[in-house]
Amino acid sequence: MSKLKISIAGGSGYTGGELLRLLMTHPQVEISQVTSERFKGKPVARLHPNLRKRSELKFSSLSELENCDVLFLCLPHKSSSKKINEFLGIAEKIIDLSGDFRLNNADDYKKWYGEEHPNEEFLGKFVYGIPELHREEMKNAKLISSAGCNATAVILGLYPLYKNKIIDIKKSVAEVKVGSSESGNESTPASHHPERAGCVRSFMPTGHRHTGEIIQELSFGEKIDFNFSATSIDMVRGVLATSHVFLNEDLDEKDIWKIYRKEYSGEPFIRIVKENDGIYRYPEPKLLAGSNYCDIGFEKDRNSNRVVVISAIDNLMKGAAGQAVQAFNIMNGFQETTSLEFTGLHPV
Ligand SMILES: NC(=O)c1ccc[n+]([C@@H]2O[C@H](COP(=O)([O-])OP(=O)(O)OC[C@H]3O[C@@H](n4cnc5c(N)ncnc54)[C@H](OP(=O)(O)O)[C@@H]3O)[C@@H](O)[C@H]2O)c1
Repeated sequence: MSKLKISIAGGSGYTGGELLRLLMTHPQVEISQVTSERFKGKPVARLHPNLRKRSELKFSSLSELENCDVLFLCLPHKSSSKKINEFLGIAEKIIDLSGDFRLNNADDYKKWYGEEHPNEEFLGKFVYGIPELHREEMKNAKLISSAGCNATAVILGLYPLYKNKIIDIKKSVAEVKVGSSESGNESTPASHHPERAGCVRSFMPTGHRHTGEIIQELSFGEKIDFNFSATSIDMVRGVLATSHVFLNEDLDEKDIWKIYRKEYSGEPFIRIVKENDGIYRYPEPKLLAGSNYCDIGFEKDRNSNRVVVISAIDNLMKGAAGQAVQAFNIMNGFQETTSLEFTGLHPV
């Protein structure tokens, strides 16, 4: 079988670098082009030093993109949506990692992104990129919109509870702690080392765009309220989501465990983490660096009907490039775990 020709637009960034790392060893893939406007003509290993002696590719510019089978878009917000028609002239299949096509309707897009969508006829045409929720649709998809990293951690943690309608849909609160790579490789005043190092900084206590995706994916036909906050912490990779939900039935931990097992026992990248003792009792993003796992733990409050769900991912992997490769594998009929077998490191 001939290899699929893929290209990566926005390949000098962090998610593009991770896609390169994963796809360069994919047995069914040939990487055709990787773009960067700032670094066109330079070797990709200049920006991604972990790829030294592993890739001879050089960056091209977006305007030099040639036809390919699958195009990955790792561009900043609004770049994909403004040029989507041009990109569709280059590849029939597109996987977009930005937030541009995650929401299914224009009103929600305006509510969460604060402006009109430049090509709103495409909203609803992309399959939302969490395989555990949309695997069947991905099998025939041409357009996939990879999910937000914080949204992925929260949605995967809560999906079994919402799907089985065992919680109060008006009361949930999720808080994520996030690493610095979440905001990409361009520096800002907030990412300057003296400002970022050692920080525990609340940067979006309300109004985070990912709230829209979470509501969309957890609604199951009902009108839910969802409260979401985000805090930067001193970590490079990783998202740790702590979600507080309230049971509407009298269930114990064993019942909740059964619900998670039923939804996730066949999932290659979901691990339920629930140890009685030791230091690894709950999910921890540090242990997931470089891997495509989402670790999920939970605990029922003995004094109330609250369940605390703790979910962890690497934002650049299950929250971006890893999840995009998982979707790519499903979309093209490949083994879903191809190129995603890395276990993570310990200690790290
Ligand atoms: N970082 C994460 O954890 C994460 C997780 C999930 C989704 N995402 C989303 O994925 C996308 C990429 O994120 P990232 O973290 O990889 O960002 P990044 O590190 O800032 O990289 C952005 C890439 O886009 C290119 N670019 C910037 N402006 C451009 C323009 N006007 N025209 C063409 N190319 C341009 C840059 O190339 P140049 O060298 O030319 O500047 C670079 O290759 C974003 O939409 C982000 O929201 C990120």
